[in-house]
Amino acid sequence: MDETLKVIEPLLIELSVPGRRGFKFAASDVPRAQEPDSAIRREGGVLLPQASELDTVRHFTRLASMTFGVDMGPYPLGSCTMKYNPKLNEACASLDGFTALHPLQDEDTVQGALELMYRMQESLSELVGMPCCTLAPCAGAHGEYTGLKIIRSYFHDKGQSNRNRILIPVSAHGTNPASANVNGFEVVEVASSSDGLVDMDDLRSKLDENTAALMLTNPNTLGLFETDILEISRLVHEKGGLMYYDGANFNALMGWARPGDMGFDVVHLNLHKTFSTPHGGGGPGSGPVLAKEHLRPFVPRPTVVRHKSDGRYALSWGRGRRRTKVCAFWGNFLVVVRAYAYILAMGSDGLRAASTYAVLNANYLRVSMQDIFSPAYGSLCKHEFVLGLARFREETGVSALDMAKGLIDLGFHPPTMYFPTIVHEALMFEPTESESKDTLDSLSQAMHSLCETARTDAGALHGAPVGTIIGRVDEVRAVKQPVLKYQED
Ligand SMILES: Cc1ncc(COP(=O)(O)O)c(C=O)c1O
Repeated sequence: MDETLKVIEPLLIELSVPGRRGFKFAASDVPRAQEPDSAIRREGGVLLPQASELDTVRHFTRLASMTFGVDMGPYPLGSCTMKYNPKLNEACASLDGFTALHPLQDEDTVQGALELMYRMQESLSELVGMPCCTLAPCAGAHGEYTGLKIIRSYFHDKGQSNRNRILIPVSAHGTNPASANVNGFEVVEVASSSDGLVDMDDLRSKLDENTAALMLTNPNTLGLFETDILEISRLVHEKGGLMYYDGANFNALMGWARPGDMGFDVVHLNLHKTFSTPHGGGGPGSGPVLAKEHLRPFVPRPTVVRHKSDGRYALSWGRGRRRTKVCAFWGNFLVVVRAYAYILAMGSDGLRAASTYAVLNANYLRVSMQDIFSPAYGSLCKHEFVLGLARFREETGVSALDMAKGLIDLGFHPPTMYFPTIVHEALMFEPTESESKDTLDSLSQAMHSLCETARTDAGALHGAPVGTIIGRVDEVRAVKQPVLKYQED
């Protein structure tokens, strides 16, 4: 652990005083259960913190005050859609009727929860233009894994197991090739054209009878809409392949365009981005997968159905091959509750407006910085844009990393750095629809002032951030030598 942090805030275990407690259980009034066999029992005690309630509350409050979140300040982290998470969603997800449920309860006792899941499936189906939906996957990458599993099962069922290649643009998010890989597919890279879109000639040359699917996000990770999307879908389908839509960028299109209409066959959405549920730090997310009718038999079960006869809701398990399961029980239910609250609060016009303002804000910010930096590709963007600072670095010695760290000192969360990898010294800004014009103006001013500092006093930025509790960390060492568990000395 970093020595500085250790001094500023010890771990809870280090605050421990033997015997100190925050809670006292009442004496048990039920017979003691039989203990498990000694062969499977731990030897010795467990190292757990022993602290009073006040010590614990203060410890976490101090930690919370050292971190930065959406509720603290602007968070233009590209590709992550760090929009505001309305507190109404939290209030809904905290209702006893949702939190006190057990996933194995009798269906008659959880009709409300099932109805919510059913309505969520229907809403998402309408938004993406695909009729089949599973809410089970617990993150975007998990949705990708599930969607590609559906594609794999589809071809296996058709006797086309030779289709073992997934085509993925070089600009794609790293989880795309990773998900293809864990599904046993071979990953084939598709080049980007000079305008940052799919290189059509390269795509044509790589499509063949072994292609299972093209995996694409639209707008792509450069924030650019793939204008050839209908032709791309036609080409892939002509070769017998399927179209996979990485819906992590759906915040740009919601209510305006549907992946189903663009020719995609299967899609995952990130509820923890587009639909305003909290994320970050590996917290629980939700990555529902939707598919067109021909893929229905391969969509993981259970899904929720409504019986026409009496209007009751039930879990539908399907038969035989349909029983694929991708997570415990029915996914991260309370994340779905939050997202459903958001959909209801916004309404269809509100969702469409959210995308409109997300795109407007990104373009406003882009234009307000164009006298210092212009996007690496294209001009008009969708919900995000990517600056390439390679020349700026040559001129000033100040890197994209220095600029990002400098922003922290000025009260902003940094944009995404060094992604997509096809842009050198990349900074990717996604302001989202949540931010006001005033905030966008201050972000632009902050970038202008950092630019000025870079030209007059570059050294000042190499050590940024200086106003935080932890200064510049050694990011390479953190990746190469991660210390993921408590070490006593
Ligand atoms: C374009 C894109 N695809 C997929 C993902 C993966 O989503 P998750 O982080 O929920 O696994 C992300 C996450 O940032 C993304 O930006």
